[in-house]
Amino acid sequence: MNAPLLVTGGTGTIGSRVVPRLREAGRDLRILTRHPRGNEPGIEHVEGDTVSGRGLREALDGVDVVLHLAGGAKGDDIASRNLGGAAKDAGVRHLILISVVGADQMPIGYFRAKAAAERTIAESGVPWTVLRAAQLHEFVLPVVRRLTRLPLLPVPSGVRFEPVHVDEVAARLADLALHDPAGRVADIAGPEVLDIRQLADAYVEGTDGHPRHGLPIRIPGAIGRAYRAGHNLAAEPVQRGQRSWYEFVNAPPASMRVAAIADRGAH
Ligand SMILES: NC(=O)c1ccc[n+]([C@@H]2O[C@H](COP(=O)([O-])OP(=O)(O)OC[C@H]3O[C@@H](n4cnc5c(N)ncnc54)[C@H](OP(=O)(O)O)[C@@H]3O)[C@@H](O)[C@H]2O)c1
Repeated sequence: MNAPLLVTGGTGTIGSRVVPRLREAGRDLRILTRHPRGNEPGIEHVEGDTVSGRGLREALDGVDVVLHLAGGAKGDDIASRNLGGAAKDAGVRHLILISVVGADQMPIGYFRAKAAAERTIAESGVPWTVLRAAQLHEFVLPVVRRLTRLPLLPVPSGVRFEPVHVDEVAARLADLALHDPAGRVADIAGPEVLDIRQLADAYVEGTDGHPRHGLPIRIPGAIGRAYRAGHNLAAEPVQRGQRSWYEFVNAPPASMRVAAIADRGAH
């Protein structure tokens, strides 16, 4: 029996891939969730909410390391403030946060909240590590799928993404959680930087095989300028994954294949 490692967001897309890795490394885990489920050997689920702060003190009891992966469209800044304060009070020795590439550059609420979350963790008084990740393949796929269903494919000039495989992000997070606090570490991103045309072409090649006619568009304002400047892309030093977008869309996880088939049926 070792001190439990607390994973917030352990039920999510990334967290559910990190948890087995930490178990394989021999760590006992506690997963904070708003919807607790049955425990398994070495995995205890505890009820709590990072945004309201409910259950954090109990969840942190006896914990030495916290991997903070819980997140949503809103409230990540508040969640990190709550968790950082509670972790300090609990005597946690390492707090790891997942953030997003471009957190401090993109003029979008989600990114701003992540940048605030990073600052809060760094100022929490708990030794920390922050990893910024690019968008997962799983996140980009529904966007590309929706765009390819339009009569013309909107192609915003200068907008690029570098989607990364969830397992590569999960492996990096597990490794960070098993080592000493490292501060801000190299961003993690996918192997290629791709525009919407390239993302869509690879996707349709794996589905109906018909390349879409493009409609060039220009995203206005500060958000458009930030994308065109590549502020959403990883800055050096960057760790690039190996698994490509093309590989992913041609062999997506089973759950996403079902969604794609349903989608094609809806045409
Ligand atoms: N997906 C991406 O492309 C991407 C890229 C870079 C960074 N990130 C960041 O990585 C983290 C995980 O992303 P993901 O894609 O795995 O998310 P996800 O699949 O949407 O899962 C969200 C997780 O957060 C938990 N959660 C949300 N709000 C919570 C709250 N108020 N209290 C407690 N738990 C809460 C959920 O747990 P329950 O529902 O069980 O309570 C769930 O485990 C997020 O912080 C996200 O911003 C994601």
